Amino acid sequence: MAALNPLLTKVFRGPLDLNGPIIGRIFYVFEYVRSYVEERLEAFDARFGTDTSAPTFERNQQTDVHFYVPTTASIIYSILSILPLKSEKFTFVDMGSGKGRALLVASEFPFQKIVGVELSENLHRIAEDNVKLYKPESQQCASFDLKCMDALEYAYGDEPVVLYLFDPFGREILQEVVANLEKSLKAKPREAYVVYVYPQYDDVLESSSVLRKVAEGGPKWQPWSQYVIYAATTAAAERPSHDDVRSASAVPTSKAA
Ligand SMILES: C[S@@+](CC[C@H](N)C(=O)[O-])C[C@H]1O[C@@H](n2cnc3c(N)ncnc32)[C@H](O)[C@@H]1O
Repeated sequence: MAALNPLLTKVFRGPLDLNGPIIGRIFYVFEYVRSYVEERLEAFDARFGTDTSAPTFERNQQTDVHFYVPTTASIIYSILSILPLKSEKFTFVDMGSGKGRALLVASEFPFQKIVGVELSENLHRIAEDNVKLYKPESQQCASFDLKCMDALEYAYGDEPVVLYLFDPFGREILQEVVANLEKSLKAKPREAYVVYVYPQYDDVLESSSVLRKVAEGGPKWQPWSQYVIYAATTAAAERPSHDDVRSASAVPTSKAA
């Protein structure tokens, strides 16, 4: 069996990976239908004139670089509503920001800055257009910084951060992204939250020495909308209590669904 392991790993992390060349296309069709139904229900793009809802499978899509599909807007609202962002000094970073759905929703919360990091130039451009179009009255932050780059190259600033991840990449990349954040938090202890939606590789965050899980939620039968929230344990003593988050961990799933 031990000898079979590397082979099985190769097959399931290669052609049979959910984001791989074979299953990936079937999964993409499922996601397309799901996103279509969600847009009919939530009318996000219809209300704001944006272009965020259609998934995009790039011609050169790689297994570890998960294809674009947006987070359900109501899920992002639910999650950001339970974070204690009272200090209004957090930067929101969406690693794998795609067409920018999460960035747009985040702009309705009191962030100091909103950063989108996206590998695909095509998706990055669409996100830039979406940011220009998105002007709801409820917008609280209009400071966007959209970067077309590899998440692995991103350098964190010194400010408190909410790192947002909606199943953007495979385990190895996630490990490196988390390691970069840990390094930054150790060098400059501060408040930080990591939100991971569709947490396929939650064990990577669970094994972190500077993060601890403070909440989890999402509709039981919709794995793509389930999430976990981690908080930095290195932050200064005056930071808001994580009890705020924990007590809100039972996000009303009716709103989230
Ligand atoms: C599932 S989509 C998430 C979209 C967006 N965060 C949202 O919630 O609506 C994943 C995105 O991550 C991007 N991505 C994957 N690997 C990346 C990397 N190494 N660096 C930057 N972006 C990456 C993909 O191109 C894709 O747009």
